[in-house]
Formats: sequence, C-alpha cells, structure tokens
Amino acid sequence: MTELHRTDTNHVPTTATRPWRLGRRTRKAVLVTHIVSVGAWIGMDVVLAILVFTAMFTSDPHTLGVSYQALSLFAVWPLFIAGFICLLSGVALGLGTKYGLIRYWWVAVKLVLNLLLTGLVLIALRPTVIQANEQGAELINGTRTTAPVTDLIYPPIVSPLALLFAVIIAVYKPWGRTRKNKTDTRRATSSPTES
Ligand code: HEM
Repeated sequence: MTELHRTDTNHVPTTATRPWRLGRRTRKAVLVTHIVSVGAWIGMDVVLAILVFTAMFTSDPHTLGVSYQALSLFAVWPLFIAGFICLLSGVALGLGTKYGLIRYWWVAVKLVLNLLLTGLVLIALRPTVIQANEQGAELINGTRTTAPVTDLIYPPIVSPLALLFAVIIAVYKPWGRTRKNKTDTRRATSSPTES
C-alpha cells in the first residue's frame, strides 16, 4: 500500500484514481471569468438590439447610417471573443469539476448552445454586418436613403433569449444526469470540486 492511499475509509478515492479537478481558488477564478464573459456577451447583444431596432424605426437616413456603422464596432469580433471565452471557461469548469461536459443535461445543452451561437456570429452575422457597414457609409454620405433591416432582426432576438435560457439552466441546473446510475444521489449532493 503506497502513502497516497487513504486508510480511514474504503470509499474515499485514492490519489491514483481521482480524476483531475480544479482547485477551489482556481475554480472560482475560472467561474468569475465565465460569468463576466456571459455578462459581456449579453451586454453586446442588448446594444445590438438597440441599434437594430433604432435602424428599424427611424425615418432619418443619417441615424440609420450611424446605427449600421456602429454595429461593426463590436458585432463580430468582440462578440465572438466573449462567446469564445465563455466556451473555453465553461469547458474548463466542466472538465475541472464533477459536472463534466456531457454528464449533466444542463451543461451539455449549454455546450451545444454556446457552439451554435458563436458559430452563427461568424457564419450568419458577419456577412450581414459587413453589408450593413457598407450601406451605413452610403447612407451617411448621401448616396443612399434607405436600407433593408430584415437580415439583422433575428440575431438580437435569438441570441439574448438563448443566453437567458442558458443562464437560467446554469443557475437551476435542471434535468439531472444524461445517463442515470447508482452514484447519482451521492454526486448530486457533493461539492462541485469533488469527484
Ligand atoms: C451558452 C452560454 C453560457 C452561459 C450563458 C452560461 C452561464 C453560466 C452561469 C451564469 C453560471 C454560474 C451558475 C452558478 O454559479 O449558479 C455558469 C456555471 C457553469 N457553466 Fe456555464 N454558461 C454558458 C456556457 C457554458 C459551457 C459551454 C459550459 C461547458 C461546456 C459551461 C459549464 C458550466 C459549469 C460546469 C458551471 C458550474 C461551475 C461551478 O459551479 O463550478 N457553461 N454558467
């Protein structure tokens, strides 16, 4: 028997078999990063919504142009980076705690949502924002008086709603484990850093 094995109880995992876990302080630091990135992401979605709805309802071409051009300041890379930091910190939290990546439904669903939303920023939002930026310049210099807003309506509705849903399931942690087994009860009552 090596010194790494605990002898007081048969149920305490040995150092050799215990999966990798984040230390308490590191876990808190990663959790802060995760929550701040979520806040930044939702905040940018709110600004996106304000600009898109301003563009939709204004009758002033200059205001429309300024709203369109302002989108390109944050709507692709800063938004993507916030989503990507959320993804990285979320994956670290999942792997570094008892929650895992696909062990609990609430984590697995957030993983899929995070991948979808960040993917959509590059695939769907980016071309639309580039086009809006060009139209914004034309609106400001007077070579154009109107521009369609249609493609821009969905991102500021779908993304904040999906993120709100992700925050709610992160806090309430519903639906339990993806695969039931007899260790459910013990794991559900242990602290996040325990195996
Ligand atoms: C879709 C975007 C996401 C949002 C809005 C979000 C939101 C949150 C929030 C608000 C918390 C804090 C909950 C609390 O302390 O009560 C949290 C914790 C957590 N998130 Fe996320 N998250 C997202 C993506 C992810 C991803 C992609 C993963 C992993 C694949 C993940 C894994 C976790 C884990 C494991 C915790 C618990 C950490 C702990 O208590 O140690 N999250 N998330």
